[in-house]
Parts: sequence; structure tokens; C-alpha cells
Amino acid sequence: MRTRTQIGIVGGGPAGLLLSHLLALRGVDSVLVEIRSRDYCEARQRAGVLEDGSVALLRSADLADRLDRQGLVHGGIYLQFDGQRRHVDFRDLTGGRTVTVYAQTEVVKDLIARRLTDGGALEFSVTDTEVADLDSDRPLLRYTDASGDRHEVACDAIAGCDGFHGICRPAIPPGVLTTWERDYPYAWLGILADVPPSTDELIYAHHRNGFALHSLRSPSTSRLYLQVSPDEDIGQWPDGRIWAELASRFKLPGWTLQQGPVLDKSITPMRSFVSAPMRYGRLFLAGDAAHIVPPTGAKGLNLALADVAVLAPALDALLHGDEQPAAAYSAACLERVWRSTHFSWWMTTMLHNTPGTDEMATQLQLSQLRYTVGSRAAATSLAENYTGFPVQLSAEPRRWVSGAR
Ligand code: FAD
Ligand code: DHB
Repeated sequence: MRTRTQIGIVGGGPAGLLLSHLLALRGVDSVLVEIRSRDYCEARQRAGVLEDGSVALLRSADLADRLDRQGLVHGGIYLQFDGQRRHVDFRDLTGGRTVTVYAQTEVVKDLIARRLTDGGALEFSVTDTEVADLDSDRPLLRYTDASGDRHEVACDAIAGCDGFHGICRPAIPPGVLTTWERDYPYAWLGILADVPPSTDELIYAHHRNGFALHSLRSPSTSRLYLQVSPDEDIGQWPDGRIWAELASRFKLPGWTLQQGPVLDKSITPMRSFVSAPMRYGRLFLAGDAAHIVPPTGAKGLNLALADVAVLAPALDALLHGDEQPAAAYSAACLERVWRSTHFSWWMTTMLHNTPGTDEMATQLQLSQLRYTVGSRAAATSLAENYTGFPVQLSAEPRRWVSGAR
């Protein structure tokens, strides 16, 4: 079946879904295809922290009803090392900036619900997605829908929002992209637990057995992570072993880690990856399709949202004959991407135990941690990177001609 849309979107993660909504606010049609089912997308456990700018973006796009009711505003984090737990006060250090704990799954649920209410074209459970004719002004999106019917959609442009393992970045001819990549010699074992958090704000813990993070999802649900080896067999980690290791890495006199039933358990590899430019012809990459950060700085989801805040007005302009914002898209995003890539690498290498390194490496980490909590300048640098930099708010449609469009 041959059809037509303005923007073809590959991928129904936060980047693709928010892009389809921001485009709809501008009166731009899109078709979004996603290989997974709606249930799978809404259940997949991933990130949990929204920067101030991401919250402002979702609010300005009229997507924050539930976020404003259920999101938990945090004004800092704890850094734990060498037997001490020290608070980094974001509000004080940044003139009032905060982050909001609101799970990626909830952002995705809100976006899917809104797109379906607004009559958006979302196709879940597709197979054999292909993109073609990317260097023409009529690129093609092909896919097979859940009933087995093959579709070919002629588009004005295609957004590759299909994550690190998607098909869009590999569809760019060899030699066009420059890539930078770093794999880390560790991974995170993450659990979701049906137990109230044992802390009021997130705890990032440096420990000789490896890093640990205490996060949360709600007043009754905790999210915790342990540094493990990248080839770790999750079968070797029964719940009792996970809780014992978490309790040991967070140990502090007078403080107890509350334990409860484990609802979800998974292992995530850690990688830094950047590919540039984020555009080839009429294909635009956004989010994890173009760049990956290790999760320690809580940046991946925020970068994905920030990319499409820039992409939506750029595509709108392109459709109206103004090429300039589309030409500027990649450079505009990469500035933020590299800042987050550096911050995530810095947090990761300061807090994890790197196998094969010596005591000197540990002492350098501890010195950096002491400096970070002891110097207002160093703490401010962490705080402003963690809470994030302002995002271009794109929900207000640009008027191309006077009067209604
Ligand atoms: P994704 O969310 O990956 O969305 C891409 C979508 O494209 C997916 O739904 C996928 O199914 C779909 N897709 C792929 N191929 C195709 C195809 N051929 N056709 C159609 N659809 C396709 N960040 C943090 O900050 N903290 C964390 O704790 C954290 N944990 C993570 C755990 C895991 C396992 C992963 C993979 C990432 C994690 N991240 C975390 C990163 C964060 O979740 C991502 O940065 C964020 O999801 C990026 O959003 P996105 O929309 O760009 O990509
Ligand atoms: C969460 C994940 C992170 O990577 C992080 O740095 C903070 C919180 C989370 O899943 O809650």
C-alpha cells in the first residue's frame, strides 16, 4: 500500500513520540512506526530523572498533567565515599534549579495516550522497517504492519529515532559519519523493588566493590543499581545476593537499607558513543540513534527530548522552504551532546571501580570526590551539569505567514 505523510518517524521511544507530538502542535503530519508492542514500550524500565529543561519542555507542550502531580522534585543528590555521605544542594548552588524523578515509562505512557487521543498515526509491532531515497526530497519509509500488510510511505523527511540498534544510522552510506566510541569495563544491574525508598534524594556511592546508586520511582517503589561485570550472568544474582551487596555498598552507621520484593531485574552495558553529523540528506537522527551516554549522569533521556525540541521547528521550517534551521540542527544538538558526554564520562569514571587499575586510581577518585563536595566551585559545576542547561522550547508554533496557517 502506498501512502503519503510529511514526516516519517522510525521509533516510538521518547524521541520519536515527542517529535510526533511537537510536529502535530505545528500542524505537521507524521507516521510513526515502532517494532515493539505498545505494552512492551510502556513497561520497559529505563531512565528516571528529568532535568529542569525537560520538565519545562513537556509543560510547554501541554504534556505535564501527570508529571506535575506525580513527579518528585529533588533539590540535590548525595555522594557517598570513604565512609561519608555528603549532600550536593542543587537549589543553593544553581539559584533554585532542581530535577524531577519521573520514570521514562511514565513519559512514554503520557506521550502515547496523547498521540492516540489526538488521532496521531502510531503503528506498533511493525516488522522489516526500511528507509530509502534519503538523498532525494521524497524519502521513503517502508514497513510491514501487525496484520502483515506492506506499506510504502512517501515523506518530505524522515526522523531516525530508533535507538542505538536501529536501522536508520546504518542506512547512511559509509564515509558520511564520523563516530567516537568508548566501552566501559563494567555494566549496571538494575532492580525495581516494591519497597519505599530508604533515602529522600538519590545516593551515588563509590565503593571498593564497585559503584551503587539508590534511586526511586515513587514514595512506595525503589530503583537501585549495582556495578557488575559486563559479562555478568544475571542468573548468578538471586534477590538475596543483590540486597546483600547493595546493603554493603551503601553501609553507613545509623542508616538501614529497606528491602522488598524485586519487581524487575536487568543488566545494562555502559557505552559512550557519538556520531556526526546527525543528518544525511532528508534523514535526521535524534536521541540514542545518534548518541549514547553511560547512565551515571542521568542524561540519555534528557538528550533525546532536547534533540527533538530542536528538530521539530527545523522540520517545520524545511517544509516551508527555509533550509537554514535544518542545516543548523546537527551542530546545535552536538554542543549539548558533547557536554553531556563529558559529564557522563566524568561521573562514571569518578564513581566506578575500574578493573585492573591500582590504588593510585582509587586515591585520585577519592580526591576528586572530596574536592567536589568540599569546593563550592566544583560542587556548582556538578550541580549545573546534573540539572542541565535550558532546552529550546519548541511548542510555540512559528508563524510563517500572517494570520492562520
Ligand atoms: P529509545 O528509547 O531506545 O527508543 C527507540 C525506539 O525505536 C524503541 O522503542 C525501539 O523499539 C524502536 N526501534 C528500534 N529499531 C526499530 C525499527 N527497525 N523499526 C521501528 N522501531 C524501531 N538513561 C538514563 O538516563 N538512565 C538510565 O537508567 C537508563 N537506563 C537504560 C537502560 C537501557 C536497557 C537502555 C537501552 C537505555 C537506558 N538509558 C538510561 C538511556 C535512555 O533510556 C535512552 O537514552 C532513551 O531511551 C533514548 O530515547 P530514544 O527515544 O532516543 O531511544
Ligand atoms: C536513574 C538512572 C540513572 O542513570 C541516574 O543517574 C539516576 C537515576 C533512575 O533510573 O532512576
